[in-house]
Amino acid sequence: MYLFRKNLEAQKAVNINVPRKRRMMCLNESTLDPFEAIKDKIIDKMKDVHLNRYFNDVTGQLYTKLAEYAEVEEDQLVFGNGVDEMLYYLFTAVRESSESFAVSFSPSYFDYKSYCNAVGLTIKHVNLDENYANDIDAFLEIAADDNCKLLILCNPNNPTGQLLTEEQVLRILNNTDKLVLIDETYFEFSKVTYKNLISKYSNLIITRSFSKAFSAAGLRFGYLISNADNIVQLKKVMTAFNIGLMTQTIALCILEERHIFLAHTAEVIKFRNEVYARLKKIPQLKVVNTHTNFLLLSLADKTKQLFDFLQENDIALRDVGAHPIMKNHIRVTISSKEDNDIFVQKVNEFVREKC
Ligand SMILES: Cc1ncc(COP(=O)(O)O)c(C=O)c1O
Repeated sequence: MYLFRKNLEAQKAVNINVPRKRRMMCLNESTLDPFEAIKDKIIDKMKDVHLNRYFNDVTGQLYTKLAEYAEVEEDQLVFGNGVDEMLYYLFTAVRESSESFAVSFSPSYFDYKSYCNAVGLTIKHVNLDENYANDIDAFLEIAADDNCKLLILCNPNNPTGQLLTEEQVLRILNNTDKLVLIDETYFEFSKVTYKNLISKYSNLIITRSFSKAFSAAGLRFGYLISNADNIVQLKKVMTAFNIGLMTQTIALCILEERHIFLAHTAEVIKFRNEVYARLKKIPQLKVVNTHTNFLLLSLADKTKQLFDFLQENDIALRDVGAHPIMKNHIRVTISSKEDNDIFVQKVNEFVREKC
């Protein structure tokens, strides 16, 4: 007899299967390790944080600092173990019945589906077209269904790296009263945010991450911005003390030293544009520039061979080819100068020999 929720039995467990290679250019991580960059500060601050306690002043300090950075009020914020945990809580809070669903464009961040599945919320998709254009009419039509509880916009989108226009975002917000999530995980790369619309649209929710520009994927820290009432509702489904004091302390240190991480982000953007320009010179290769820390590539029917060749050369990329419009596409995370140089060199070598 199956002892868990019926529709779990057929579901697959979330399993991130990533090869361990010398040059990890597959998960949109940073090469700057916060613990190396600001170790003394972290150790110093940890001296006032007593891990025998459930809570400490660091929580209040982190809310204050994060509100200052995000330019919102403290009661408009809540934080979690990465954006992922924020998504999980949000999906839990909106699910009304087995008929409830969220709508998102596709392809988009894969784990929207994983966490919707996890909490028993269906997810419906509106496919992007071949040029990654968003069909807003189709999206709004699905959203109009009574059972639609949440509209998800990934901006910039992963894996296409593209932004919706402001006009598109406003059209969506002006034509629904359902909750609208704008996932701004790559905000520091795109510099586009809709947080100023939170005072106008009470249904708007924004998520941001410390995993990308703040270089701290392994820290697991992300936050959600909305109006104070929505934050209260979300807190009703959250576990108590969901973020450990050590994580909060490191997040606070990162914010206090954010100039280091934001300077690194600026460098990654520069590297991304350089890698893009160098790859553009290869006529056989399709390369898509983005508003993120990754690029999208396709070498038509040789893409899989290129992917394998790079793996054999100790470079891990991400195969994003599952969606029909992404067939034969791979994603490369911009890395250190050395990694980027070797990567471009190896792509050139492959094209010279095999195309
Ligand atoms: C669009 C998007 N949203 C959310 C996440 C998850 O972020 P976090 O590491 O903060 O959980 C990612 C991670 O790659 C992402 O690309």
